[in-house]
Amino acid sequence: MCGIVGYLGKRQAAPVLIEGLYQLEYRGYDSVGIAVFDGKKLRVVKKTGLVREIETARQAVGRVGIGHTRWATHGDVTVENAHPHTYGNIALVHNGIVENAAKLREECEERGEAFYSDTDSEVIAHLIAAEYHGDLLEAVIRACGKIVGSYAVAVFCEDEPERLVCARMRSPLIVGRAKEGLVVASDIPAAAEEGAVLYSLEDGEFASLSGDEIFICNAAKSKIKKEPIEFSEEGRADLGAYRHFMRKEIDEIPVVLRDSREEIARNFCFSDFCKVLCQTEYIQIVACGTAYHSGLCFQAALERVCRVPADVFIASEYRYMDPIVRKGTLLIAISQSGETADTLAAVRLAKRRGAHIAAVVNVKYSSLARLADTVLFTQAGREVAVAATKSFNAQLMVLYLIVAAMASIKGKRSPTLKGFESKAARAIAAGEAVQSWVPYFAGAKSAYFIGRGEDMCVALEGSLKLKEISYLPSEGYAAGELKHGTLALIEPYTPVVAVLMRRDIAEKTMNAVHEAYSRGASVFLVTCFEEYCGGKEITASVLLPKCPPVFSPILSVIPLQLLAYYTSLARGNDPDKPRNLAKSVTVE
Ligand code: G6P
Repeated sequence: MCGIVGYLGKRQAAPVLIEGLYQLEYRGYDSVGIAVFDGKKLRVVKKTGLVREIETARQAVGRVGIGHTRWATHGDVTVENAHPHTYGNIALVHNGIVENAAKLREECEERGEAFYSDTDSEVIAHLIAAEYHGDLLEAVIRACGKIVGSYAVAVFCEDEPERLVCARMRSPLIVGRAKEGLVVASDIPAAAEEGAVLYSLEDGEFASLSGDEIFICNAAKSKIKKEPIEFSEEGRADLGAYRHFMRKEIDEIPVVLRDSREEIARNFCFSDFCKVLCQTEYIQIVACGTAYHSGLCFQAALERVCRVPADVFIASEYRYMDPIVRKGTLLIAISQSGETADTLAAVRLAKRRGAHIAAVVNVKYSSLARLADTVLFTQAGREVAVAATKSFNAQLMVLYLIVAAMASIKGKRSPTLKGFESKAARAIAAGEAVQSWVPYFAGAKSAYFIGRGEDMCVALEGSLKLKEISYLPSEGYAAGELKHGTLALIEPYTPVVAVLMRRDIAEKTMNAVHEAYSRGASVFLVTCFEEYCGGKEITASVLLPKCPPVFSPILSVIPLQLLAYYTSLARGNDPDKPRNLAKSVTVE
């Protein structure tokens, strides 16, 4: 993953780079570095940790530079492995994975070249230096021709200090004109400012930035003309009065539900798309992480309301399982970022095999939005916290709107999605009660989340949230499966959360609650049925507003998001930046 930035212009480069890197921290925050050229010498500052670790480098003098925030793939989290990497007259920042790095490195070492890091990225600096004969663009094009894998790179050469060159292959990259200079960045928020004109590079494209000129071309150096992309500066991360983005983003759920519903109402392709879906032979759904759980909720609703079968796949599994893509297959990819490498690879594979591709995606200029034949945008706005919250609710809103539209085309009755915005606001208020649950979770060895049907999909998401940010081992489980193994793990005071939003199976889920309670578990309940809250086996509960059960995950996940947040705080973690994770996983 990682985020890269570059600046060349009239301003001091260091503050521009550091501000840009803050906006890209969601892409990784293991280590950070910048390189700024002061007219004579290239000064490189690298540290392990967050961007704030290089705050003192703001003072660095120089009007051109590159910067990087890292999420380690090849090589440990060390200063040596942090970017920028330099070799000879070349300095470089890289996002992606060089798959043939070992072979390329061996070739460099045979030539007697020394390496200072364990990264795959350092090899690119060597390749470019070897290809450099006075024209950096030419050298980058030639070097990229030798790389197998994915990359977004920004390259500086001390022999051409008035120029930056960049390249893109399966890792996002933006170039553009900003205030008094030219910019390069992995994502729009790092480059967005008033008056900026930004362009998105495609795979196999290169850009040379110098003076006031941006030259975009292909590997044959043929100029490519681009339309600027639309962006809003509101996308820049702003905490307002909140301590953490995650808590702020949970509070934004009612608004993103409304905005996502309105966005679909404006999308003139939506009803045609739903008609096509109704006639589709085979629906496949692919996604990762939280988006995968949205896919499970969608599948449950599609089957229950429309009686339409669909298969849901973890994208990283789909791509390596030789999937059956029958004639007439429609594949729906769900992703917040639209840059998740596994999801994109699954989509490319399905596309090659003839599937029609639809995307439910939050980021407008993402690779997924550009790859898909049909795009439905969620309107979650920018999500900064690594653990997804509001984007999940927004995905559910869009996916359930598809279900409701398909039901109406098929002449079936669908429950309504009206009123979910205000119910979500009530769910947030009610969910605050989980703060009293935290002492049971903060010191626990493990925790369990159970439910049936769509409640189970929510249990999986609740468990993922808790794992991600509190580092507490936890499992989401089908309530009925508890007795087939997981019950052995229940000890006195083990916290178990039961999600119970469907009356027809409430008693069945309560059986699992009794089983856990009898083994000493402390059982917590998320439900809309008051009558189940008072039993002796329930330590505490959150009572949610009633809603159509098939769409209830939009609400029932909220207390679990809050539980993860408060447990993370109680365990002394930063909920926005969990260890080892990143928001946008642009590598395999
Ligand atoms: C990462 C994030 C998760 C996210 C998943 C899929 O693992 O940490 O929060 O759910 O990627 O991301 P996407 O952008 O494709 O929804």
